[in-house]
Amino acid sequence: MIKPHSKTISAIRSRLLAWYDQNARDLPWRTPPYLSEIDRQSQATNLPGAYHTLVSEAMLQQTQVATVIPYFHRFLDTFPTLKSLAQADEQQVLTLWQGLGYYRRARNLHACANVIMSEHQGQIPHTVDELLKLPGIGQYTAGAIASIAFNQPAPILDGNVIRILSRIFFITDPTDHTPIKKQLWSLAEQLVPETSGRPGDYNQSMMELGALICSPRNPNCNTCPLQKLCKAYADGSPESLPITLPKSKPRPVHHHILAIQHPSKPNTYFFEQRPSTGLWSNMYQLPTLELNHNKDFESDQLITYIQKHLKIKTKNITQLKTFKHQTTHLTITFHLHAITPTSIPTKLKPNTAWRSLTKLTDLPLSNPQQQATKCLSVQ
Ligand code: ADE
Repeated sequence: MIKPHSKTISAIRSRLLAWYDQNARDLPWRTPPYLSEIDRQSQATNLPGAYHTLVSEAMLQQTQVATVIPYFHRFLDTFPTLKSLAQADEQQVLTLWQGLGYYRRARNLHACANVIMSEHQGQIPHTVDELLKLPGIGQYTAGAIASIAFNQPAPILDGNVIRILSRIFFITDPTDHTPIKKQLWSLAEQLVPETSGRPGDYNQSMMELGALICSPRNPNCNTCPLQKLCKAYADGSPESLPITLPKSKPRPVHHHILAIQHPSKPNTYFFEQRPSTGLWSNMYQLPTLELNHNKDFESDQLITYIQKHLKIKTKNITQLKTFKHQTTHLTITFHLHAITPTSIPTKLKPNTAWRSLTKLTDLPLSNPQQQATKCLSVQ
């Protein structure tokens, strides 16, 4: 285990906090500004900030700050309190999340609000151990919330922190290898200051340094407050760290989106709800045939699918557009097809609907489905 000297630890903390005080971005979830521990203890109820931290940390997982800001504002305008979020309908939460991706985060956040209301009297837990019991909250998010909202000395470790620590301490082994990950968590724990030393601001200063200075490819070492302490800088090529194990390649698959136009209502298409598990669960879509292999499609296959599963008869299929979408494990090529039915069933199956393209705002759609409906709107 790496055990930095106490002088090194003090220098890292004080340099980072001094830099943060001068350079922190004014982000909406950082208001109200830092409150002293005395202020915090005098608050009998949740600080508005704790709910803001919960929402922002859910949104910021795998997503850039600039993308999150407008979503954060819209979300808080609609659900200004934890209670209002708990009382909301899941479809409404998903619709507000539309475009941010990784929709499981929205479901978990909604579930969190419900658990906090029913099991914690509406008070967001203060400790990492309690936070970890909430839906979708892992070690990083628990540390971020405990430190930022409640000023607990809890470590965080994400891509930014891994990059900074691997460079400062010159860790040249793959950082996604379990023993090395443990070593990094141990370093983060040794470095995070006690409550009196502003652990929340310290953790945010790490995030900020990773975003603004210690970037993956072009670190701006000349303005870095940790330059003198950084072993990778001294070695001459900080951008070569961290090292990661080679990842398996995403699998290429083809999904066929079927834009089935109502025979008599203009601009109106058939929509269905996705299953309650898996990718984009519970969201709506134009019916989509997911061929989980990389072969060419046959239009007969699509006609049979439409007839068998949707009970809609058709003769003509026109291919409108092809576009790609990347998920963690799949490279999905979407093929959008226009379908003019010759007959439609008189009775709709549950969780299906004919919808005008001008009235989709309350229907949660994934990014590729939004892309498809936008393409139909400009036809
Ligand atoms: N990424 C995750 N949490 C963050 C925060 N509080 N500020 C900036 N970037 C972040």
